[in-house]
Formats: sequence, structure tokens, C-alpha cells
Amino acid sequence: MLENKKFFIKTHGCQMNEYDSDKLGDILKHNLRMIETKDFENADLLILNTCSIREKAQDKVYHQLGRWKKIKKKNPSLLIAVGGCVASQEGRQLRSRAPEIDIIFGPQTIHRIPKMIKDLHTNKTKVEIDVTFPEIEKFDYLPSVTNNNISSYISIMEGCSKYCTFCVVPYTRGEEVNRTLDSILYDVRELSNKGVKEITFLGQNVNAYKSKNYNGEYISFSDLIKHVSFINGIERIRYTTSHPIDFSEDLIQEYHNPKLANNLHLPVQSGSDRILSKMKRKHTVLEYKNIIRNVRKIRPNINLTSDFIVGYPGETNSDFIDTMEFIAEINFSDAYSFIYSPRPGTPASIEADSISSDVKVDRLNQLKELINHQSKKYSEKMLGTTEKVLVEGLSIKRKTEVFGRTDNNKVVNFKGTENLIGHLVDVHIDEVRGNTLHGTLSDMILNLNKTYEHKIL
Ligand code: SAH
Ligand code: F3S
Repeated sequence: MLENKKFFIKTHGCQMNEYDSDKLGDILKHNLRMIETKDFENADLLILNTCSIREKAQDKVYHQLGRWKKIKKKNPSLLIAVGGCVASQEGRQLRSRAPEIDIIFGPQTIHRIPKMIKDLHTNKTKVEIDVTFPEIEKFDYLPSVTNNNISSYISIMEGCSKYCTFCVVPYTRGEEVNRTLDSILYDVRELSNKGVKEITFLGQNVNAYKSKNYNGEYISFSDLIKHVSFINGIERIRYTTSHPIDFSEDLIQEYHNPKLANNLHLPVQSGSDRILSKMKRKHTVLEYKNIIRNVRKIRPNINLTSDFIVGYPGETNSDFIDTMEFIAEINFSDAYSFIYSPRPGTPASIEADSISSDVKVDRLNQLKELINHQSKKYSEKMLGTTEKVLVEGLSIKRKTEVFGRTDNNKVVNFKGTENLIGHLVDVHIDEVRGNTLHGTLSDMILNLNKTYEHKIL
């Protein structure tokens, strides 16, 4: 019935959404035998995976739906499905603003889509809505991994139980739920058998991960990293995102593990203790600095990045100066920075917001300028060094070049051929162009099987 029908997915927002969209595409291809298309004007099913983290992200949803409404006018049998965080938050109300929607699903119900589409087709219902949080059921129903790349994301937990005052995630994605160790290791082995060399653990707070091992003993996030580093073929492990309050000593010590990549994205939001406390981040500036000091004892050149919010309700000029001094002192090599955006239903959204929009924009610009300066300095320090690059593919612009990532997560382009893809090679860094680097392949191709001391967990 749906065989050979075409679907198109548009994804907004974070890596979690990208990951969910990939999985959703796999489900539609495997379970319903549908075909993915880039030609959205001729698709039979249009899917929008939404983000509601900031107001601008939410506005994008209605703009997109407005465009799709026109396509549906020409083709009334077209199905439109909306998922992700806006769908989760607004549920049925979405349809009052956009009646052209046929299916509404949440971040935890993507596996139920085939049934929802089938029910629509058999005319059991006119609209299908399911934005519940059925715990970890989602993972049990997703098809096994079909990733063919060298580097792959793998979701290890869902949701967030931190409830920072400004953030909508705990309400849209639900509380933290961990996948079992078994199911993660199974997926990583499958990925590795298909040629994946680099794994990025994905979740809102991956370092809050907890599970049990085969003996029924509790294991932590650092134990998970150890387990995965013993899997044959896995050369590098990354993760995103982590939270300072779960950054335990054992995770710091894990940076002795050569397979754990040399970059760390650790969101901090502000460099003022007063604001951190108002945001309910549950740690101080000093505690954050201690984590970084200890990580840098093991990894002095780590690529350290973070997230910042400016203009949080009640942020004074002195709070902002504290943030700027903190950024300079820690010397972050990059950051995502945002103007605070009140999110409906969050505690911060009912706080008085007395900062003018000009001041917020000015603070954001100052912060970005400082970060850009530090980012440039960090890349320039890599000039003349030789980096281990995991080659991911042919360069899109120049077919005589390949690209890959350094251990510290910088993209490098260099002259090379297809047979390098999937290998860890030594590349001499010759040039810095904005955020990407340019280099020359050194003669030696590194042995793929690095040895790492096996420790029984
Ligand atoms: N799990 C991550 C954050 C996920 S949201 C953590 O530990 O912090 C990604 C980023 O979006 C946050 O780090 C924050 O900087 C930004 N963000 C979240 N809610 C926001 C809001 N209401 N206004 C502006 N920025 C926000
Ligand atoms: Fe949001 Fe704070 Fe969790 S920023 S995702 S509530 S750690």
C-alpha cells in the first residue's frame, strides 16, 4: 500500500533530532518499504522534525508548514507529519494553527509512525497524535543500524532530569532514561562490523549515564567508554553533551584512554555564580574550573568548547563581565552562544526580564568576538603540527582531496585518494582557513589496531 511511496524529512535543531530523523528514515524504508527523496514537491509524505529550544527555532516551524501547505493544496493526498519538541510541547494545539497536519509525534514515539500512517491510510482516523513518553520502548523497536559511514552517532540515553530554569528539554523529551549496556554494545559491534571507526555517544547528559554490567553491578559513563574501547575496530570515542555536575573523577581519569578523543564540549551557560544559581545549574564557577584544570593535567591541548546564554533575567553588567573574564581565563577554543529566550512553561519564563534587547545583542556580540579570537588562536597553534586524521570521505569541492577529523575534532582537507577513507593517517597542518584546516599527508599510515590495556570491569 505504501510500498515505493516517497518520503521527505526536514530536520531542525540538535544532533538528537538528526539522529531521530535518521532512525525514522530507516523505519520507513525497512517497515513500510518507502523511498527517501530530496524532491519534496513530489513526495507522498513530508515530515518535519522540530526544535523548540529557542523562540526562533519555533518560528521556523510555522514558516516551513506554511510552505508545505501550498504543496498540499496541489496534492490533497499528501501526508504531513510533525514531530520533535514543538510537537511534544504543543500536541493537538499544533493543528489549530496548522490544520494541514495529519500526524503529530513526539521525540519518544518515532517508532510508532508506521502504525499511525497505516491507520490513516485505512481511514481508521483522520489525524494521528502520539506525543507520549513510553520510557525506552523506542530503542526496542528501531531497526538495527544501517549506517555506512566511518563515524556514527549512537544514542545512549534520552531526556533530561536537570530542569535548568530556562530549558524546555525535560518537558519535551521527558526525564532521563538510560539504554542498557547490552543494547549499546550490540549496536556498536554492528556498526564496527560495517566499517565504523568512530563512535559519538549522544544524549542530553551522557555523563549521567548509569546501567548495570553482566554481573549486575552498577556501571558509570566512564565504564561504558572503557567497554566500547575494547570493541575491535573502534578507534575513537566522542560524546555530546555532558553536564558539569556529573563530571566525576573517574570520567576525568578516563582521559588517559587514548581512544577517548581530545575534545570536550561542556556547557556552562554563565561565568557568574549568581546567575548559575538562578539558572539552577547546581555548580559554581570554581567547581567548573576545577574540572577543566584536572582534565588539562591529562590533556593539556584539549579542544574545550561550551554553551553560553546572555541576557538571562536579572543578568547585570557585572555578571556579564564575570562571564567574559571567565571565558578569557579558561580560554575556551569555541562556543555556541545565545540570547536568552523565554520558553513557555519554564520557571525562568515568569521572571521579570528588564534587560533591553540592545544590551542583550551587545553582550552577545562582545562574547562572540572574544570566542572567535580564542578560536582562531587555538587553530593557529595547530599550524606546523602533525595530526592523526580519521579520513571520512572525498572532499565535496575538490575530488582530488579527502577530508577527515583530527583527534581534537577539527576538519582537515588534504590531497588524497578514496583508498584512504576509514584509515587513521598522519597529516601535517599547513594552513588554517576559518574553521577548517588544510594539510599534507605524511608517508606513514598508522597501524589501525592501537593497543589499549585491557581492564576487566
Ligand atoms: N544538555 C545541555 C544543553 C542542551 S540545550 C546542557 O547540559 O546544558 C543546548 C543549549 O541551548 C544549552 O546549553 C543552552 O545554552 C541553550 N539554551 C537552552 N535553552 C535556552 C533558552 N531558553 N534560551 C537561550 N538558550 C537556551
Ligand atoms: Fe536543558 Fe539543563 Fe537539561 S540545559 S537539557 S535542563 S541540563
